[in-house]
Amino acid sequence: MKSTAIKSIVILISGRGSNMRSIVEARLPLRVAAVISNRADAAGLGYAREKGIAVETIDHRGFPTREAFDAALAAAIERHRPDLVVLAGFMRILGDAFVARFAGRMINIHPSLLPMFPGLHTHRRALEEGVKVHGATVHFVTPSLDHGPIVAQAAVPVLPGDDEQTLAARVLAQEHRIYPMALRWFAEERLVIRDGVVRVTDSKAGGDDTAQLLMAP
Ligand code: GRF
Repeated sequence: MKSTAIKSIVILISGRGSNMRSIVEARLPLRVAAVISNRADAAGLGYAREKGIAVETIDHRGFPTREAFDAALAAAIERHRPDLVVLAGFMRILGDAFVARFAGRMINIHPSLLPMFPGLHTHRRALEEGVKVHGATVHFVTPSLDHGPIVAQAAVPVLPGDDEQTLAARVLAQEHRIYPMALRWFAEERLVIRDGVVRVTDSKAGGDDTAQLLMAP
């Protein structure tokens, strides 16, 4: 049974917030209940404020342990009662208890074609490996870092002459397409996880959709 109530999300950021912005600008059938950052100076907070979105900072440096920070963050999120927690450039590793608490209702975007290049410096590593295809992945969050059921991927070519910046920019442009796309499917209750694999049900035909891969020119 599909619920008729509009779903709400809380977006977590640490910096620039361009993915957050792409989500807000996509005018999805979702309510952005709050944007929460672990850094008061995250550039993205200004944009969220301008848009009238509730903004909070929970500075990880104010907590003695990761567990204490995670607990405060979880409490802040739960106050907004979101259907989904959206990690958008949130640069803190979240503990297992936190991830378990939000199991199945937390999603992330990672700048590589997972399971290749989990962790940091994905574009540099892609160049060092000489891969010819790179990209980004939207996935549900599980306790292992940058791993979990894949909702959508965008693939881009690695071109001769690319450096970290040009490759990052090419990938980021696609991140701004797939994250709103994935969240629209969530809003429409079209995401089904079966045996660890995400399918997007086609709301019209009731069958399976294969549009989970975007290929950039
Ligand atoms: C993006 O590349 C995202 O994939 C990664 O961190 C970066 C955040 O960028 N997790 P922004 O803050 O959304 O501009």
